Amino acid sequence: MKLSEYAKHLLLSSDLEDKLLPPPSVWQEETDVRPLRIEKPNRADNLKFSDVKTKIPRLEHLNQTTAKGLTLHHFANHELMAIELFAWAILAFPESPLRVKLGFIKTIQEEQTHLRLYLKRMNDFGISFGDIPLNYIFWKQVPKLGSVEEFTAVLSLSFEGANLDYSQIYAKAFAHFEDWETAEIMIRIFEDEVKHVKRGMRVFQNGKPSSMEDWDYYKTLIHFPFTPRRAKGYIFLPETRKLSGMSDEFIRLLEEYEDEYSGRVNLKTLERFQFGADVWRKSDLPLPHQAE
Ligand SMILES: [Fe+2]
Ligand SMILES: [Fe+2]
Repeated sequence: MKLSEYAKHLLLSSDLEDKLLPPPSVWQEETDVRPLRIEKPNRADNLKFSDVKTKIPRLEHLNQTTAKGLTLHHFANHELMAIELFAWAILAFPESPLRVKLGFIKTIQEEQTHLRLYLKRMNDFGISFGDIPLNYIFWKQVPKLGSVEEFTAVLSLSFEGANLDYSQIYAKAFAHFEDWETAEIMIRIFEDEVKHVKRGMRVFQNGKPSSMEDWDYYKTLIHFPFTPRRAKGYIFLPETRKLSGMSDEFIRLLEEYEDEYSGRVNLKTLERFQFGADVWRKSDLPLPHQAE
């Protein structure tokens, strides 16, 4: 199979199982390198893009089974979009170096694992994929992504970057309610997302003119109304960005960045959970069941 055939398979098959097909380990050489920008993926009816707004359950409701399932449904949707969008980038930017495209394939494979983890765990909570409408927030950025560097700035540095905060926040929230199994899933995914942002950082650094600062280059790659705010979670955990290879200066400027949408989260809720700035790793999960 060629990279482009695999990418098309993930985007154009409407069967969810097809989108979860792991990549082959050997690839045939690519012969056609014309860019192809697929406007939207094929999906089964219950997974199609929807403009119906569904709010993610509040953190303080994560002691309830349905709220837990619906939260994971939101995350599963992000994973599905990530699988499709990395496939999209392979087709849209075929002139990218092979190692970049193989990096995208590795990311796809890990996003497929994440999606399976969420599907299984939400089923434990009585929720099936497609039970609530699926938004397409990541896909909305696609028309504006003109280069592999712009793709990386939005997908990896911003969305996957924000997910570093979110996976930590939710690991801690699930642990707060003693759901260690889900907390562990969140940390497992966190560890992979660190690698994804790192891969993104390599594409970013390769594309950056040597005379330019990281932050200035990042800002040339994202386009209003998309702002650096999208690169952060409800709370910002600088240590996670350090793990993924961002420079101290970039991290500082990202932390300081604010716009009119900043600060809309209910800080009281966050205070209740007493989230510290500490970062949970797979190796030092503070989960009591591991000691059993
Ligand atoms: Fe993921
Ligand atoms: Fe990812």
